[in-house]
Amino acid sequence: MATQPTTGILNRMLLRKTVEQVQRETKTSQLKRTLGPWNLVFLGIGCIIGAGIFVRTGNAAALHAGPAVLISFLIAGFVCALAGLCYAELSSTLPVSGSAYTYSYTTIGEFAAWIMGALLLLEYGLAASVVAVGWAGYVVSLLGDFGLVIPVELTGPTGHVIKHAVGGELVPVLVNGAPITYLFNLPAFLICMAMTALLVVGVSESAKVNNIIVAIKLTVIIAFIVICGAFVIAHFGTLKANWSPFIPPASGDKGEFGWGGILRAASIVFFAYIGFEAVSTAGQEAKNPAKDMPIGLLGSLFVCTAIYILVSIVMTLIVNYKTLDVPDPVAVAVDALGPQWAWFAKLVKAGAIVGLTSVVLVLMYGQTRIFYTMARDGLLPRVFATVHAKFKTPWVNTLLVGLITGVAAAFFDINTLGDMTSVGTLAAFAIVCLSVIWLRRTHPEIPRGFRVPVYPIVPALGILTCIALIFTVETRVLVFFAWYTLAAIILYFLYGMHNSRLAKGLDEEEAPDMGEYVAPVHTS
Ligand code: ALA
Repeated sequence: MATQPTTGILNRMLLRKTVEQVQRETKTSQLKRTLGPWNLVFLGIGCIIGAGIFVRTGNAAALHAGPAVLISFLIAGFVCALAGLCYAELSSTLPVSGSAYTYSYTTIGEFAAWIMGALLLLEYGLAASVVAVGWAGYVVSLLGDFGLVIPVELTGPTGHVIKHAVGGELVPVLVNGAPITYLFNLPAFLICMAMTALLVVGVSESAKVNNIIVAIKLTVIIAFIVICGAFVIAHFGTLKANWSPFIPPASGDKGEFGWGGILRAASIVFFAYIGFEAVSTAGQEAKNPAKDMPIGLLGSLFVCTAIYILVSIVMTLIVNYKTLDVPDPVAVAVDALGPQWAWFAKLVKAGAIVGLTSVVLVLMYGQTRIFYTMARDGLLPRVFATVHAKFKTPWVNTLLVGLITGVAAAFFDINTLGDMTSVGTLAAFAIVCLSVIWLRRTHPEIPRGFRVPVYPIVPALGILTCIALIFTVETRVLVFFAWYTLAAIILYFLYGMHNSRLAKGLDEEEAPDMGEYVAPVHTS
């Protein structure tokens, strides 16, 4: 018997799993310790580099920060590093191969875990939609290069006016004198369905395949930096005009240029860092977690920050930032090299497509695993943990995740989806920072392989900076987030609280056999 049934609302909300329970549940002893620090850095980069740099940087520069988007990357990277240190402490203290959901359940308690579950749906589920929309942008662009045109109405968010470039400006496409709008984004929907099918049949993307995809992504990005960077250096005399002014003056509207715009852009490019914390889920597979986890978490963050800054320097010098609010900004920058480099633009698009495909898969997988764990805990209906007899995957759960991500990707625009993801993830990071403080106060005696330096300043600053960035997004996104959180709270009291296995005193021995469900990324 793990826990006695508990009474009292507050006690119920703070009901915690013990480390021993989580360890038994996750049967972590089966995992082999095979990952060294470089594997972890690669694992991190595999999840990190995606639509953030390939797509959202363009919007952040064009509409909010101008060339100063590189300062936004530094700010977002700093906030992630604070959270990364907290993830490193938790993953070396709680020897569980779980996500932030499990950390919350073992530190603050069930209510925080439930809220974390809701936030992770934004961080993983909705992020998968964002990356799917980014994927669609590059696919449409590459197919167009080969003369294959998907009807334009089927390539964008429902109800948004279709625009095309005329003399460097984006203007509405007119039919019979009236602007036309998109119906929905078919390619974005299809990629979500394709990844759902792969996850249902249980594709097990081995560490080797992950390394190959990461290598392709990195090669494309480094080639972009080197080739376009050389062009920028050769033509610096004329191109430096694109950096004048480096910080475009504030327009007067909230978050449009000036320092307000830089902060606003920081919450947009924050999306580009999401995924580094996936490293912490590999705690049980690290050869020397106390040393390797901080290296994996902070190392992948550091490498990506350096890459992002170089890409944004090159991008905003080679073309004017105003031209970057397009679905394929990296390709727009390559086009500036001239027609003789058209092959390179195609290569960049192909590399982006391969890289983004794997990020959609990894994010959707992450979401199914969170639902699966919550269902095992009784916090979601049992059907979410039902494992397919043949494929040994939680297929109903996966179909639902596919449907949610596919529908969101088909009907909504990338900026709205991206902002919702950033807000949810920032809130989740704030809870992770709080968990570090909570655990140090409630369990100072637990041995910690890695301790956050300058405690409690680092976790406290992590909480403050995450909250500060949340408030830079558009008011309508904040309103959505407030309603979403309220709905999650109500659902806890209506459902989660009454069905939790922990509260009923049921432990994992009595749980149904859910079969084995392997990670598609870091399981070789
Ligand atoms: N950081 C990931 C991306 O940019 C989610 O696509």
